[in-house]
Amino acid sequence: MMIYLDNGATSWPKPQEVKLIMNEALDSGGNPGRGGHGVSMEAARSVYRVRELLSKIFGINKPTRVVFTSNATQAINTALFGILKSGDHVITSSLEHNAVTRPLNVLENRGVKVTRISGRSGNEFSLEEYAAAFRDNTKLVVTLHASNISGVLLPVEQIGEIARGKGVPYLLDAAQTAGVYPLDLNSLPVDILAFPGHKGLLGPQGTGGLVIGDNCSLRPFIYGGTGSLSELDSQPDFLPDALESGTLNGVGIAGLGGGVKYLLAQGMDNVRKREQQLCQSLIDGLLHIPGVKLYGGTDAATKAPIVAFNLGEIDSMIVGDMLDEEYGIISRAGLHCAPHAHRMLGTIEQGVVRLSPSHFTTEVEIGETLKAVAKVSKELL
Ligand SMILES: Cc1ncc(COP(=O)(O)O)c(C=O)c1O
Repeated sequence: MMIYLDNGATSWPKPQEVKLIMNEALDSGGNPGRGGHGVSMEAARSVYRVRELLSKIFGINKPTRVVFTSNATQAINTALFGILKSGDHVITSSLEHNAVTRPLNVLENRGVKVTRISGRSGNEFSLEEYAAAFRDNTKLVVTLHASNISGVLLPVEQIGEIARGKGVPYLLDAAQTAGVYPLDLNSLPVDILAFPGHKGLLGPQGTGGLVIGDNCSLRPFIYGGTGSLSELDSQPDFLPDALESGTLNGVGIAGLGGGVKYLLAQGMDNVRKREQQLCQSLIDGLLHIPGVKLYGGTDAATKAPIVAFNLGEIDSMIVGDMLDEEYGIISRAGLHCAPHAHRMLGTIEQGVVRLSPSHFTTEVEIGETLKAVAKVSKELL
């Protein structure tokens, strides 16, 4: 028996639709946009249909402004390196995943100035400190939407409004919220959104992308063949080709389309509410277990579907290993690719045990998990 509670890393299981559509794409063949023959044209149409689906759920009216990448990390790098250059200033938060922190560190070494807005109690984002951080050369604001450690949401509406007021684009890392919360660029003051295809959107690994608002222009991050304007020595300047060099993951993108269709049929709100209910059951149960320390508050309805805890001062890896080896419960323990956020939470040594259910998770599985944590607590504390 396995109880999979690591959907924050990648969602599992995938809906049947995803597997079926990927099989069909493998059987159909074709390299999207490469060659004028029917097979490649159909592969390109299939990719375009997924752009259309994604542009609908992210509230933009030009499917060509959905750019596919291999994951959220590549999407974020494409945006950061496509906008920032030496002498520019960027504002970010201290809760960021290494997908943002590490490229920003590289850019800092190349002459970009970085301001990191720290939280006061480990989770909060100081809007006052942020509003005061803008300079004449501020070219970008970049933050995550939800912490991948605790699930806590940043006040992205206010962050975006303040950036808009200053005429600075806002890049949102929606790794933990794409497919979970409605993210409509018509109403949300976000200019560029980076998403993974393999988490909340229920697609396969190797998928992700950027949604680029009308007023944003990015330099290419990778150069090469696009199947368009092949007579030119230079990269095409139109989207998505400018930012999509090399063969696309056509099979994965088809699967991502299957995941999004499934999600829309279930209703994103229904899926999120079920996940939040499961998280609330986890939180309520954990609160009764001796030695449990919870991170990110106790109201699951206000967070991404993530529950983070520790048992006393025990190394989270020990707890995670015991849950896996003795009870078949798959959590994620240790440090979660966000060292600054761990420092703010005071968990840089201990890490945290992260439980992230999906709507496929059952209440019975949550009950089993709580029983297992109680036993581990009794054994270790
Ligand atoms: C907040 C956040 N940003 C970025 C990423 C990177 O996503 P990917 O693995 O798709 O590159 C993750 C992955 O867990 C994440 O949680």
